[in-house]
Amino acid sequence: MSLTASKVVQRAGFRSLVPAITHIPYGTHASLDYLEQQLFLAMVPPQEVAAIFVEPIEGEGGYIVPEDEFLARLREICDRYGILMVVDEVQSGMGRTGRLFAIEHWGVMPDIITSAKGIASGLPLGAILSRPELMTWAPGSHATTFGGNPVACAAALATLDLLEGGLMKNTTKMGKLLQAGLTKLSEQFSQIYPPRGRRLMVAVDLWDGEGNLNPKLRNSILHGAFHRGLLLLGCGKAAIRFCPPLVIDKEQIHTAIAILKNILSQEQ
Ligand SMILES: Cc1ncc(COP(=O)(O)O)c(C=O)c1O
Repeated sequence: MSLTASKVVQRAGFRSLVPAITHIPYGTHASLDYLEQQLFLAMVPPQEVAAIFVEPIEGEGGYIVPEDEFLARLREICDRYGILMVVDEVQSGMGRTGRLFAIEHWGVMPDIITSAKGIASGLPLGAILSRPELMTWAPGSHATTFGGNPVACAAALATLDLLEGGLMKNTTKMGKLLQAGLTKLSEQFSQIYPPRGRRLMVAVDLWDGEGNLNPKLRNSILHGAFHRGLLLLGCGKAAIRFCPPLVIDKEQIHTAIAILKNILSQEQ
C-alpha cells in the first residue's frame, strides 16, 4: 500500500502509511538524472536508502517498457550506494513475457524479486525471492496465517513444470501473433496505436485523432468487448492491456482480434 503509486483510490482511507518512501517517474533516464542530481543531493541521503523498488515493465501504469539501459543504470546506482534493488514481478513474471522473469530481458540481476498472480495459476500465493543472506530470518519473524498453504504451493510447483514444459514457448509464439494482430488493427484504425510490451504483456493506447489520449473511447471498447465475451482491462491513462492466460491458443487470439475489429468499426 505504501509503495504503490497506481491509483489514489487504493490508498484512500488507509493513512498512515509507511513514511519516508519517495516515488520518481518511471522508466526514463531523465528520471534517474532527477534521482541522482536532485533527490540524492538535496532531499534523500542515498546511504539511508534501504531499497529501490521497480517494475521491469510497468503494469498498472500502462505496460510501459523502460528506456534502454534504464534498469542496468538503476542496478549500477544501487551498487554504488549499497542500496537493494527490488524488482516487482507480480504482474510481469512467471513466464508472461516469454522469460520466467521479465528482468531477464535486460540481463540485470536484482537483489530481491517479488512474485504473485501467475505463480500458482490462480490459487492465492505470493513469494519473495532472494539470496540466503537476505532471506535467513529468525523463525516466526515472518508469520502469516495462510502463508505457505500446501495446496497453493503444490499449484506453484505444477505451474513451474508447465512453464518449463512448453507454456513459455507458447507465450512467445502467441505473443508474436497477438502483437501482429494488434499492429494490423493499428494500421487499419487511426484511434489505436501500435502495441507495446513483451509477448503476452501487451497494451495499446487509444487516441482521439487529434493527438490526445482518449480514455472515453478506451472505456467504451472495454465495455463493448465485455458484452461480446472478451474480458479486457485498462491500464495507464487510455490503454487497453492484453494479459491473457499463457495457455491461450491461436484461435482465441484470432477471435479476440476479430471482436476488437468489430468494435472499432462501429466506433468510427
Ligand atoms: C506490479 C504489481 N505489484 C503488486 C501488486 C499487488 O499484488 P498483491 O495483490 O499480490 O499484493 C500488483 C497487483 O496488481 C501488481 O500489478
